[in-house]
Amino acid sequence: GTAQIGVTGLAVMGRNLARNFARNGYTVAVHNRTAARTEALVSEFGEEGAFLPASTPEELVESLERPRRVLVMVKAGAPTDAVIEEFAPLLEEGDMIIDGGNAHFEDTRRREKALRERGIHFVGTGVSGGEEGALRGPSIMPGGSAESYRALGPMLERIAAEADDGAPCTAYMGPDGAGHFVKMVHNGIEYADMQLIAEAYQLLRDVAGYGPARIAEIFRRWNTGRLDSYLIEITAEVLAHVDERTGEPFVDVVLDQAEQKGTGRWTVQAALDLGVPVPGIAEAVFARSLSGHAGLRRASRSLPGPTPAPLGEAAAARFADQVEQALYASKLVSYTQGFHEIRAGSEEYGWEVDPGAVAAIWRAGCIIRAAFLDRVRAAYDGRGDLPSLLSDETFAREIGEAQDDWRAVVAEAARQGVPVPGFAAALAYYDALRAERLPAALVQGQRDYFGAHTYRRTDGEGVFHTLWGGDRSETRED
Ligand code: 6PG
Repeated sequence: GTAQIGVTGLAVMGRNLARNFARNGYTVAVHNRTAARTEALVSEFGEEGAFLPASTPEELVESLERPRRVLVMVKAGAPTDAVIEEFAPLLEEGDMIIDGGNAHFEDTRRREKALRERGIHFVGTGVSGGEEGALRGPSIMPGGSAESYRALGPMLERIAAEADDGAPCTAYMGPDGAGHFVKMVHNGIEYADMQLIAEAYQLLRDVAGYGPARIAEIFRRWNTGRLDSYLIEITAEVLAHVDERTGEPFVDVVLDQAEQKGTGRWTVQAALDLGVPVPGIAEAVFARSLSGHAGLRRASRSLPGPTPAPLGEAAAARFADQVEQALYASKLVSYTQGFHEIRAGSEEYGWEVDPGAVAAIWRAGCIIRAAFLDRVRAAYDGRGDLPSLLSDETFAREIGEAQDDWRAVVAEAARQGVPVPGFAAALAYYDALRAERLPAALVQGQRDYFGAHTYRRTDGEGVFHTLWGGDRSETRED
């Protein structure tokens, strides 16, 4: 065979990745379960590069040079397993199957192990950037064996987005499920970023009293500063958009029920299993879920509470600046939580994920791309063991400078009855981390009272229980 890579599954992501490889000079074998898609790709985009259409898995495999690289771009879950089972028997030792879908990292671990036993490399790979990214340069997060990265990495580096310093936005994340785990957390952070931006919008609307077009201008201004990011940029575009049919702001005619395909939820589920607090990400997932409970919301609409009363012009302008501070501080907190989860996952599964490398490959191509990520990369530079992103001196100083405004915004939101679960949860996380003493001591007392669950003391080693039902003397349990 002469093709350097084969792509099976030619829906929009697969098709665009295939085109990206071809545009970068690779010969790409392409295959789809229904042949019409394969034909459409070749007839529409055939002149972009060298495509070898294959009508069967056998044909695809035969057209590949060795080691064979088969990129699977089908739906996560059972369809992925089915395609793997179709291709694996056709492959030989040293060949690789690359899964570029949004697979759950536990599935990736299972598949990697099963295929490794058959001598096949399985590379679970996060791909971010949507359709445009897939075509023009995504951020790519490959896992699997280090050996497979040697055979595949250079190709991924060619098709990936480029950061401002010219570095490709892909790097080896670590063994088995590391790549899909990192992609999962990317999406959790994506949910949090989106929710925080949405809360900022709601505050500018209800408390500052601005209309969508004016808020779009504010986001455009913020996008020239430290919040410079793809999500802020597209938010301004969405807010400025006017509905064709009604002439109303687009944001006012869209049903306010946010959907999700599940990767944000996975991030929270994995965090719960790992014991990592990610309340900012969790609130973003819950906010989408709450929005979808139309019946519950309808039944609750008459509950008492304030109706926001917009501020006057001067106060509104000042408030908008405070919202920028609150948004930035809350963003810092959600990245802190996401990176904590990556570190915990890496420790649990022995991946040795380099957090600086993660930040570096998120700088361009992906949905959460932002100027900010170059600063996250710098924070971890040579300090992969940084206890928390907030331990970095620059970030600690910035959040310290933002905190007065951040508190004022959360307080004003509570006073006016505007829900800001993301801002508020981020602030509570920050204050809990700062606290000298937490009421966890009281919780331990309660647990010991009703269930003899024991506690430790501040003044020495050991595990203790108080005889709550008796004379309340203390016994040492260990
Ligand atoms: C990306 C995106 C993408 C994701 C959806 C979000 O990184 O390119 O995260 O992978 O599937 O865009 O999905 P939901 O909002 O539907 O969960």
